[in-house]
Amino acid sequence: MPSFSTLFTTGLLAASSVLAAPFNGNVDKRSAGYCLSDADAQQVATNYANLIQLVSGWEDIANAALSEQFTDYSESVNTLIDSCPQGSKALTLPLLSASFTNRTTFIGGQGQQAPINFNQLNIWHSCDTVVIRWETTNTVTNITNVRPVVGMITLETCPAPAGNAYPYYIDTVYSEFDAGAWLQNLYDAGICPNGIDPASSTGITSPDTSAQGSPASSAAAAPSGTPSGAPSS
Ligand SMILES: *[C@@H]1O[C@H](CO)[C@@H](O)[C@H](O)[C@H]1NC(C)=O
Repeated sequence: MPSFSTLFTTGLLAASSVLAAPFNGNVDKRSAGYCLSDADAQQVATNYANLIQLVSGWEDIANAALSEQFTDYSESVNTLIDSCPQGSKALTLPLLSASFTNRTTFIGGQGQQAPINFNQLNIWHSCDTVVIRWETTNTVTNITNVRPVVGMITLETCPAPAGNAYPYYIDTVYSEFDAGAWLQNLYDAGICPNGIDPASSTGITSPDTSAQGSPASSAAAAPSGTPSGAPSS
């Protein structure tokens, strides 16, 4: 029978390999000698929500709230980009690639979005990671019965340099949401009148677009570059 210490050591090894896996080999971000308070965690969440909502001064917030190498993973965002591309930054992405790999590209993509509302439904946090559940209800604005979109966002933090407006940067985001409801809203709003490209990797069939609402005269409400407000995440 294995000794307690053997079991303990094996357990530790198993735990550390599980913990290390999602961080691309960079375990330094974790356990960096800090532990987010509830208020710190809410500030991190609020910063992100303000970016998605494009509040006044959002670019300054982005520079103070995101690390330079900020990386955002979202298959939901990539599906919107690939299925309903809008705007010059809307370059097709493999579904599982990062949606943004640094702060500069995030700001560029986000700057082409229409603001959407962002209602925080839940928040949880560990010492270095914040998880929020959220809802947006106005992904399009020119139809009635807009489908609500609910999502989950995991925000990994790292310490920001001394003197930064916020003590912690958001370093990595994992964000998924109901891209199906969002896309259907875009179709119903006439924003993607041709439907999804049948050759697209998502394989979703083009919807009947025979005019529910007039085609948007601009891509204002559309995901451009990155899906509108895709919690870019
Ligand atoms: C940000 O990412 C883009 C796209 O990969 C790249 O062209 C650019 O050089 C990067 N900028 C910085 C500051 O890392």
